Amino acid sequence: MDDEDLVAAAREATANAHVPYSEYQVGAALETADGTVFTGCNIENANYSNSLHAEEVAIAEAVKNGHDEFAQVAVTSSERDGVLPCGMCRQTFTEFCDDDFRVLCDEADELAEYRLGDLLPDAITAETLGR
Ligand code: THU
Ligand code: ZN
Repeated sequence: MDDEDLVAAAREATANAHVPYSEYQVGAALETADGTVFTGCNIENANYSNSLHAEEVAIAEAVKNGHDEFAQVAVTSSERDGVLPCGMCRQTFTEFCDDDFRVLCDEADELAEYRLGDLLPDAITAETLGR
């Protein structure tokens, strides 16, 4: 899928965000190796710490449907402020993705492109644990 379409899918996903606390809607569109796209939005909780991030929800949706090889993700917020995956989400991507996994961030007028290995160098992986 081209970058604009992937970002559009992420923007669409923000519509279902459950964000009564932060009022900050995040959307993620995750493209698998075979081109299927799964989306996620953030889902907050009154205890705050149970809140799910948009990227986690997209990964869960993909894995639940039998996909575990990913090519790229687009992430956006309703502010279009170039939100990046947080450290926790970077680690969760690392479970499934190589260092060259593309991360596209929506800066409204332009897209910023990152690689997972640059966002989270020297991550703990299955190899670290000898697996
Ligand atoms: N958020 C995400 O959904 N993904 C990230 O990686 C960054 C943060 C959400 C969590 C919370 O609902 C809101 O953005 C403010 O932090
Ligand atoms: Zn996160």
